[in-house]
Amino acid sequence: MFDALVRFVRENYRTDEFIPLHAPVFGGNERQYVTQTIDSTFVSSVGPFVDRFEREMEAYTGSPRAVATVNGTAALHAALLLAGVERGDLVITQSLTFVATCNAIAYCGAAPVFVDVDHHTLGLSAKAMETWLDDQAMVDAEGVCRLKPDGPAIRACLPMHTFGHPADLDGLLDVCMRWRIALVEDAAESLGSLYKQRHTGTFGLLGTLSFNGNKIVTTGGGGMILADETLGKRAKHLTTTAKAPHAYEFFHDEIGFNYRLPNLNAALGCAQLEQMERFVESKRALAGRYAEHLAGSDLRFVTEPADCRSNYWLNAVVCESRSQRDELLKATNEQGVMTRPIWRLMSHLPAYQDCRHGSLETSEWLEARVVNLPSSVLPGAGA
Ligand SMILES: Cc1ncc(COP(=O)(O)O)c(C=O)c1O
Repeated sequence: MFDALVRFVRENYRTDEFIPLHAPVFGGNERQYVTQTIDSTFVSSVGPFVDRFEREMEAYTGSPRAVATVNGTAALHAALLLAGVERGDLVITQSLTFVATCNAIAYCGAAPVFVDVDHHTLGLSAKAMETWLDDQAMVDAEGVCRLKPDGPAIRACLPMHTFGHPADLDGLLDVCMRWRIALVEDAAESLGSLYKQRHTGTFGLLGTLSFNGNKIVTTGGGGMILADETLGKRAKHLTTTAKAPHAYEFFHDEIGFNYRLPNLNAALGCAQLEQMERFVESKRALAGRYAEHLAGSDLRFVTEPADCRSNYWLNAVVCESRSQRDELLKATNEQGVMTRPIWRLMSHLPAYQDCRHGSLETSEWLEARVVNLPSSVLPGAGA
């Protein structure tokens, strides 16, 4: 079973060895730049590569400001605080996501509200969000969206661009505007993905990226906050211990965080970013080959939404049933081709099982059927 798929993956990666789900490719200036930081002794939280990585990420994404952080979870935590999320608030998000999305909400002392995802984008459904709001929420006299009749504030909405496929941003922006809710995008997986030709993570009040080892561009560990000038400035301050600028005095004007990205990691990021378009092209080419190979089979290959360019960070198929999913996982992993099921729903985890939620029918359907296939950049695509 699934022998043809295993053969197909091996042909593309040109190996009989174990094939991981997503491995980084270091084919450019990585060694040179990292060595430069060691030679200069600036390996820690300040250094020219941090500034360079931020400016290059601004140019790449079109975001007015990009602020580097120690990881994507820290970026999300700070972004939610900057969007005004406070202890006791509610934040609307999807149950079908990686746990960091919810953890960042919890770090703010707020609680997630889970609404369903779209069948095709796998991202937060604007329609499901509106249905839940119509039923449960109101905008009070001060213009604050609240749980009816006078419950906690519903401060933000945090969609996630699943596996790199952009969520329905126009729909979500429209609902957020009408209900006075701040939109923050978890774009951890979607560096290089465009919605109507604009980079994901630049539509909301703030957006965040991750450069974890399994992402399209890695810094070892790292993240980024995307924001306008004002919030970007605040983001830099909050994530660098809230220190007032001074040549030698230490004065911190609020409780800040040490969420800075070290120069050593930023050096790796600069070298990786230089290869970004080749990485995206390679991943899109691989996705095209998967789609062709699986056409007519009983596995539905997940493709990019209309009007979008996906980075195809992780390729995914939707199986016909949970039992077919289990067979696929067993057959491929036993043959040294790594595949993984989509995450367990957040609403099924002990920490979040008591959170408020709308109908999660599509999320539950997908949870039982989606499998990720090997998705690393193809050999020879770096540098
Ligand atoms: C959707 C999503 N959000 C947040 C994160 C957190 O990023 P990090 O691992 O860099 O903290 C990740 C990935 O790891 C992710 O996939």
